[in-house]
Amino acid sequence: MKEASIEVMKNTKSVRDIDVKDKRVLIRVDFNVPMGEDFDISDDTRIREALPTINYCTDNHAQSIVLVSHLGRPKGRSAEFSLKHVIKRVERLLGRDVDFAENIENVESLQQGANGNVILLENIRFYEGEEKNSDELSRKLASLCDVYVNDAFGTSHRAHSSTCGIAKYAKERVAGLLLKKEIDSFAKAMANPLKPVLLIVGGSKVSSKLALLYNILDVVDKIIIGGAMSNTFLKALGFDMQKSLVEDNLISEAQKILNHAKEKKVKIYLPVDVVSTDDIKEHRHIKITPAQDVPEGFMAVDMGPATSKLFSEVVRDSQTIIWNGPLGIYEIQAFSRGTFNLAHAVSDTYAFSLIGGGDTADAIDKAGERDNMSFISTGGGASLELLEGKILPACEVLERK
Ligand code: 3PG
Repeated sequence: MKEASIEVMKNTKSVRDIDVKDKRVLIRVDFNVPMGEDFDISDDTRIREALPTINYCTDNHAQSIVLVSHLGRPKGRSAEFSLKHVIKRVERLLGRDVDFAENIENVESLQQGANGNVILLENIRFYEGEEKNSDELSRKLASLCDVYVNDAFGTSHRAHSSTCGIAKYAKERVAGLLLKKEIDSFAKAMANPLKPVLLIVGGSKVSSKLALLYNILDVVDKIIIGGAMSNTFLKALGFDMQKSLVEDNLISEAQKILNHAKEKKVKIYLPVDVVSTDDIKEHRHIKITPAQDVPEGFMAVDMGPATSKLFSEVVRDSQTIIWNGPLGIYEIQAFSRGTFNLAHAVSDTYAFSLIGGGDTADAIDKAGERDNMSFISTGGGASLELLEGKILPACEVLERK
């Protein structure tokens, strides 16, 4: 079960458990950061979170430090996806110069006579072999280092050359400090959590959260279901959700989950009232009604005030809170109240709060509560897979203590 898988990953050796002195270290980082126009980085959390491992290797006299990352999902080489767009920010945050290597051969020459220099390799997804986990590329990358460090939590659910294949050929393979912190935080919430444990789950689709819901029933005491996915559950209870987003093909699955939860004595909380509109973009008509009374031609887009109160009570009575997925269309101010109210409620507790998923982190940020959460994961897909009880492939290949 999930407890076992997270415990397995918790036992991974970290960079602190080995000696990096005078060794060539290659760190797989996740510098896949969001950018606006002109390639401005809108959120550099992932770069900041990679700094402790890089600094640790510098402080412990690594001979050279090669940083390997992807950026976006390029099809072949393209200037748009070049990691040159992030190098300035990396240099500023590290407070030192970073060499840029256009390709692997370049890395080798920059490593000659190296004295602790940091080298950033161009987007590893420019290599065709990367996503195919090609043996040839894995070997090549491994030949650049004595120690392979995986600190790319956000990409650890991908079995690629730079996340998995390389470990087969590297002399030493360990976790970086971010990866360790992520795994430890998920273990704290899932393996031996302080009870009661609450899962808050939202987002638009039940389909993307099915595996999570089934797995988490063995971990949590209570589940709050919000966001558009709650519409499918409300319809499963027999409510007419009018024009709301509903996955009709998953109504019986939703009923199954409600029944399983009952058997396992996990309480499920659904919205009791909703905010709905006849047009998301224009939203000239907005109504608050009981969840079973969505007006004809309207669609539910946020939870109502009674639900906010009810959910806040549930939050207040929890010791561990796992949150994945926003609870309304928080990007539109008129429909953001439910998500923001709950973010404030979570921030008011003394519970251990673990936030997973890019949208959820963004919503919490917009609610002004980023600093009040216990831990915000840097991974979207990776954190979802942990909540699903899976072992991350790029973690599984690392050495155990
Ligand atoms: C992410 O942003 O979730 C990670 O960097 C992984 O990116 P990917 O989904 O393109 O593999």
